[in-house]
Amino acid sequence: MPPSIFSFPNRIVFGDGTINTLADRLSEFSPHKVLLVTDEGIRRVGLAAEVTTRLEAAQIDYAVFDGVHSNPVEEDVADGVAVFQQEGCDFVIGMGGGSSLDVAKLICLKATHQLPLPEYEALSGGINKITSNLPSMLAIPTTAGTGSEVGRGAVVTLKSLDRKALVFSPHLLPKVAIADPTLTVGLPKGLTAATGMDALTHNIEAYLSTIYHPICDAIALAGTKLVANNLRCAVENGGDLKARGNMMIAAMMGAIAFQKELGVAHSLAHPLSTVAGVHHGLANAIVLPYTMAFNRDAARARLRDIAAAFGVNVHALTAEEGAEAAIDQVTQLCRDIGIPANLRAVNVTEEMIPVLAKKAMADGCHRTNPRPCTEGDMIDLYWQAM
Ligand SMILES: [Fe+2]
Repeated sequence: MPPSIFSFPNRIVFGDGTINTLADRLSEFSPHKVLLVTDEGIRRVGLAAEVTTRLEAAQIDYAVFDGVHSNPVEEDVADGVAVFQQEGCDFVIGMGGGSSLDVAKLICLKATHQLPLPEYEALSGGINKITSNLPSMLAIPTTAGTGSEVGRGAVVTLKSLDRKALVFSPHLLPKVAIADPTLTVGLPKGLTAATGMDALTHNIEAYLSTIYHPICDAIALAGTKLVANNLRCAVENGGDLKARGNMMIAAMMGAIAFQKELGVAHSLAHPLSTVAGVHHGLANAIVLPYTMAFNRDAARARLRDIAAAFGVNVHALTAEEGAEAAIDQVTQLCRDIGIPANLRAVNVTEEMIPVLAKKAMADGCHRTNPRPCTEGDMIDLYWQAM
């Protein structure tokens, strides 16, 4: 057995109404002034007020930065840091989907770390430049997708590299996550489906990744099972708090499991967002069945385990049949929850494919894919998904 280091994440406060414990959770940090990092949509639908009214009631001083874009860019971080510093803040609450939580993490980083943001990218050894000297953060997810609230990474588009980049460090992990399913009931069907498929992709890709981590493997399979049993219901009946809660747990399990890293679906998905503006979860959902088929020969037995997590009786099936069943299950789930059938349906054009494929190769996620990928493979996969 090779030597391994296993780490598990932060404190998770989970359950209906746990947002009411916000002031209690903050009291242990005694913040002087809190910066709430979110996006305009969250403010517009009244979710930001779920935080600000409770801060006011507890007489905790705060400022708000709601300038996070749905595919966040470097400027979002710089703008947020400016507010953090002008307002004299010393604590960050990130509220929203993965974009807001990731930008909140990077605002914490840049509040105390002076190098340009690209210097901290994981691919260029950024982890060694990130110290523990950063403001504490509390995360409040309003989607069940990225699981960024329990993750140590943040994804942002870096202008100088013209692509999405991962910044990664244990110090970026929020100190506390408040995962309250009641905050996700208003999420529209399309976003529930797309973010839920992001969670599924994390669980499946982590399970298939080449890194040895049997603890995360068990979490990934259990996360897959939760998505299989709850995503349809969460999409169809947004007010079902049990389904919403199970999807929140599945999203966190996916993010915990992807300590094992991810795979080619995420390498294909990242440029689909930066080049064609496709929602991250949607991009993953559309390419995922094709990447599973691409991995069939390299990961048959593991794909069969995924079929079992979907409730398929795999005992009578060969590994090959089991792998096929897993692909069928994911394809059917996508259909049932209204995921667009192909990339054309989300405005991706044939002309984009060469650029997309180059960027997918430059992305780090496919390094742990069970089958090694060439640029030609990326082109083929994009074509299949068209
Ligand atoms: Fe993702």
